[in-house]
Amino acid sequence: MEQVDLIVHNTSQLLAMPSQDGGPQRSAAMGNLGAVANGAVAIQDGLIVAVGDSADILAAYSAERTIDAQGNAVIPGLIDCHTHAIYGGDRAHEFEMRIQGATYMDIMAAGGGIVSTMQNTRDADEDELAAAAQKRLDEMLHLGTTTVEIKSGYGLNLATELKMMRVMERLNSVVSAEIIPTFLGAHTVPPEYKGNGDGYVDLVVDEMIPAVTDWFAQSQFAADGSPLFIDVFCEDHAFDVLQTQRILRAGQAACMGVKIHVDQFNALGGLPLALELGATSADHLEVTRGAAIGRMAASNTVAVLLPAVNFNLGLTEFADGRALIDAGAAVALATDLNPGSAPCLSLPFVMGVACRYMRLTPAEALAACTINAAYALNVGDRLGSLEPGKQADLLILDSADYRHLAYQIGGNRVQTVVKRGQIV
Ligand code: NIG
Ligand code: FE
Repeated sequence: MEQVDLIVHNTSQLLAMPSQDGGPQRSAAMGNLGAVANGAVAIQDGLIVAVGDSADILAAYSAERTIDAQGNAVIPGLIDCHTHAIYGGDRAHEFEMRIQGATYMDIMAAGGGIVSTMQNTRDADEDELAAAAQKRLDEMLHLGTTTVEIKSGYGLNLATELKMMRVMERLNSVVSAEIIPTFLGAHTVPPEYKGNGDGYVDLVVDEMIPAVTDWFAQSQFAADGSPLFIDVFCEDHAFDVLQTQRILRAGQAACMGVKIHVDQFNALGGLPLALELGATSADHLEVTRGAAIGRMAASNTVAVLLPAVNFNLGLTEFADGRALIDAGAAVALATDLNPGSAPCLSLPFVMGVACRYMRLTPAEALAACTINAAYALNVGDRLGSLEPGKQADLLILDSADYRHLAYQIGGNRVQTVVKRGQIV
């Protein structure tokens, strides 16, 4: 018998959420659960060694530790592929302003929104930013999130953008979840550059991208083989298509993967640009309709949908997730956790909103938060599914039926979290 560190067995269903032809799940095959009835998984050195029937796995392997899942469902650890989890302060006052009739864009145009969080983030020191973010990440872990992408973008000057990147690195060494860093220096134009967006783009391209590249090369992220992404908010009151193009091309030339906030309120033309650049993901897509959906489907760019945003903004129209999937696009879901448009820590909540308002099935929503989210971060080869050789990140639910994750609202169906083969 082969000796392993850990076996999880006696599951009602073990959902492998396999990749499809070495890529994300798409079309009718999206929502392929790869379910193993009464499944088990054997784990050694943080990696999955084997997946199969519980009796077969227990006969073939002897484990230092076994966990009896007691007939509950086991799924891959959830991956939150779009967050702004590091920020100073909060924006509860804007929440109240919106209830009284102001829109997100009204508040942004009046100098609130991202700029208000920028000020709080500039004012906070690294300890304060890290402590506040750690609390969020710990809560997210309890809700099943084992991998988290985090963006900078509340510094909007070189010193504070670098401070945010350093906080990501520090968090990655202290929290149980794993962090993937994204540089979002082009989140909006800071007040110092009001009326001179092109001047701010010069700063991002000429100073910030080189500095972030140098920081990354010396960081533990690079040592661990993590990717680094660049992102731009392509929108009115943020960056137009030409500015977005300059920044993304400069990031790409510095070996960063490309992401974009696009088509949130206005389809300015950032989506065709992202596809031309071969972006890893295009995120938001709330107003993407018609031919653009077919273009997404024909590309390798993952569509990252963020339904907690429109839910939080009290909007009743959502990104057309159903049409994107039916057309064959690779669709992922994320919280977009941030203090303004989405103060949301819970991927199961996001799955529930996507099922109800985008008409995703529970199986599609699960694929969107596991294997497809992994591909949205370029880590689909090692995360996102329960397949031999992959990292052992998994959740034991407190229900035999995985659909309860999306079906129940506001609770927590995650009973046990395993990250890199360790119970956390
Ligand atoms: O993804 N859309 C732009 N950025 C964030 C919002 C950030 C904020 O409001 O602080 C988003 O929704
Ligand atoms: Fe965002």
